[in-house]
Amino acid sequence: MAWTDYSTAPAPGTRVCDLETLGAVAALTVETDKGAFPLLVARDGAQVRAYVNACPHQYLPLNYRGDQLLSADGQMLLCTAHGARFDLGSGEAIDGADCGLDPVPVTVVDGTLVIAG
Ligand code: FES
Repeated sequence: MAWTDYSTAPAPGTRVCDLETLGAVAALTVETDKGAFPLLVARDGAQVRAYVNACPHQYLPLNYRGDQLLSADGQMLLCTAHGARFDLGSGEAIDGADCGLDPVPVTVVDGTLVIAG
């Protein structure tokens, strides 16, 4: 399912947070007048990737059972509910799930992370 299929998908240009407040990975909620949208953000320096924070297996947030969302080598995102692993850069499933995470386009404008179009 594409991120835009979620009823709470924020419009392009919606502010997410200041880039400097982000660690390596964060589970955020983007609040708009459409409601709360669950966003998973992974940052490596100035490079940021974002996915809908809903695993494709049970539609649970990846941090459902804790905050250990990165593999030890920092290359994979983990679903804490049952340990499925996803490629950090693409969101594709590595094991434990049949399909990958839904990417959300983001960009940085003047130090602020925003939803892209
Ligand atoms: S419960 Fe999240 S991938 Fe299985």
